[in-house]
Amino acid sequence: MNRDAAIGIIDSGVGGLTVARAVIDQLPNESIRYIGDTANGPYGPLPISDVRDHALRLLDELAEHGVKALVIACNTASAAMFRDAKERYSDRLGIPVIEVIQPAVRTAVQRTRSKRIGVIGTEGTIKSGAYQDSFVADPEIQVVTAACPRFVEFVEAGVTSGAELFEVANEYLQPLKDARIDTLVLGCTHYPMLSAAIQYVMGPTVTLVSSADATAFEVYQTLLTHDLLRTSTAVPTHSFETTGNDAARFEALAHRFLGLEVGHVEAFPTGTLHLPPLTTEE
Ligand code: DGL
Repeated sequence: MNRDAAIGIIDSGVGGLTVARAVIDQLPNESIRYIGDTANGPYGPLPISDVRDHALRLLDELAEHGVKALVIACNTASAAMFRDAKERYSDRLGIPVIEVIQPAVRTAVQRTRSKRIGVIGTEGTIKSGAYQDSFVADPEIQVVTAACPRFVEFVEAGVTSGAELFEVANEYLQPLKDARIDTLVLGCTHYPMLSAAIQYVMGPTVTLVSSADATAFEVYQTLLTHDLLRTSTAVPTHSFETTGNDAARFEALAHRFLGLEVGHVEAFPTGTLHLPPLTTEE
């Protein structure tokens, strides 16, 4: 396996860019090749067998193009096909596969004090029972789940606050508040974009666990243990692709999910710093 090859990341669309962001932050020397399946997503409402077929097609594509590791940066796809992917790529081809559910579960188990943990996700993720099954190793843990399908719609429309969002959030999250959870897993790639609103509704004592950060750390650990961390000193390259034909929408949403990258930096010789005065917009 080529250490300097890119890490392949797939998602149903733009949501997995929250994972890509965390991977770039935690592994700044790695190249990334990302495919968002906007032609077939969102995966949340689809039958599990369809999600499996779509996601495997993307992973096949990346595996054929020589990536050194595969990241399923979508909770719904991880719930639908992680075992298939592990067999198909790790066992047969030796390409490590990382998904988003186990890393988040491990972090939640470490953070909880009361052992009452909430999980929110798409309908597909919650219905699959993948999170619920992952917590059974500790019988003392009580898991309360809620599907929050409209959260994806809000995030994609750029809505992260406001009366309508809070009304929906209060309705989705009330059963979790009633269960007095102390830790809440954001089991969907889009939800970190709503973490302020979710924290506000849940109250300051509830710890939010994002699968993005935990997954990026899992990617780091996996590359380290497989001796696959990139050694090249050349600037890493990041490529983002989308299925379907609306590249402009993907790009607009990508800015929001990935964060603005630094575009241009001006250098002032030492001692000559004279910033121009700030201008106010009309
Ligand atoms: N990426 C999906 C997930 O994490 C959310 C969007 C979708 O429904 O496809 O579950």
